[in-house]
Amino acid sequence: MTPVWSKSGWRDRPRVQMPDYPNQSALGAVEAQLAEYPPLVFAGETRKLRDALAKVSRGEAFLLQGGDCAESFAEFSADNIRDTFKVLLQMAIVLTYGARVPVVKIGRMAGQFAKPRSAPVEARDGTELPSYRGDIINELGFTPAARQPDPAKMLRAYTQSAATLNLLRAFSTGGYADVHQVHAWTLGFTGRQEAVRYRDMADRISDALDFMAAAGVDGDNAHTLRTVDFYTSHEALLLEYEEALCRVDSTSGKPVAGSGHMIWIGDRTRQPDGAHVEFARGVQNPVGLKCGPTMDEDDLKRLLATLNPQNEAGHLTLIARFGAGAVGDHLPRLIRTVQSEGAHVVWCCDPMHGNTIRSSSGYKTRPFEAVLREVQEFFAVHQAEGSVPGGVHFEMTGKDVTECTGGVRAVTDEDLSDRYHTACDPRLNASQSLELAFLIAEELSASHKAGQAAAV
Ligand code: PEP
Ligand code: CO
Repeated sequence: MTPVWSKSGWRDRPRVQMPDYPNQSALGAVEAQLAEYPPLVFAGETRKLRDALAKVSRGEAFLLQGGDCAESFAEFSADNIRDTFKVLLQMAIVLTYGARVPVVKIGRMAGQFAKPRSAPVEARDGTELPSYRGDIINELGFTPAARQPDPAKMLRAYTQSAATLNLLRAFSTGGYADVHQVHAWTLGFTGRQEAVRYRDMADRISDALDFMAAAGVDGDNAHTLRTVDFYTSHEALLLEYEEALCRVDSTSGKPVAGSGHMIWIGDRTRQPDGAHVEFARGVQNPVGLKCGPTMDEDDLKRLLATLNPQNEAGHLTLIARFGAGAVGDHLPRLIRTVQSEGAHVVWCCDPMHGNTIRSSSGYKTRPFEAVLREVQEFFAVHQAEGSVPGGVHFEMTGKDVTECTGGVRAVTDEDLSDRYHTACDPRLNASQSLELAFLIAEELSASHKAGQAAAV
């Protein structure tokens, strides 16, 4: 028997990676206020996303999830939101072309504020302070006041998320998705020989779109090209915030996390008896679960049963993040566990979090080549295990930052200091993100052709 769930049940479980608020009455006041605010997303939207993800689990659609490692108050602007949205749409079109199936688009946006940290404290020049845990909790500045957790920041994160979602909803329905500019996207790809391949694919996509326009698909059906379904997601780390935004869906009578369409559990907070799993098991939203190298088969079995007791397709997404070179050591055993349990899951590849290194110039970075290699290993293992590689999960931005090294418009170790803006993990820039989409589209297109040949 599964124990009864309540939105505050997580409070009786061991919790990790959450702040201890010094002022409990201020915390209580913020929670009470948030509990009165409207939810940011609605239950019907989360069910629509679950249905789309059910298709992904069967290989009838592909998942693209991406955005900042951590949203920040300082970088909040319409331009930033628009640029990330735009690159995600461009990537989605390229991936649709490669995969020949619809692409489900989910931003790490409108709620991705709280961060797990590898150490609870940070030391600098002999001074030790609590670590920065994301703008919803404390501040990046290295002073005792900045690092003090402040519950009022939850209200600001809520407001920023609401405004972000408002803009995303407008972009998604307002014809912003101008898919007819495909060749313009590759203009910055010059020099290296890969650029020619990308331009070639862009031309083919462009031809396909022109053909559709000529065939009249642009007429009555233009709607499908001008509006997109775009969903939001974040790590449900700060459970006081999540609980305060949890609502009961009037249609189904079931609880729904009102903070975002999809929530996920991080690799550091996935203890089967822990607070984060307890909260996530009760909401009807699609739930993601990060799976790193320390995920063992027994824990995975328990988590499958706890997080998706009805074995509903589209409810649970396993986000594999092992690091290039390590996928073969872990993914096969976890895929076999899923298969032996008969579990319906989406398998998604996060090639970012297992590939973070310190560059010779001292910056935390990720080599483009390692990111791509992890995705390729993910596809190869799924192919070998007869399983569906459902999608990809990136830390990326629409801005021209220099945080990850490599790519056709190569960023070198020395370039990292030019535009290194992340408050947390290094992100792919716009050009690297799009390039990755082209490379993955090539992979998908090859496996699509192999599938067709096998079926003949
Ligand atoms: C993240 O997605 O930013 C993150 C912290 O990931 P993980 O839990 O996989 O380390
Ligand atoms: Co990150």
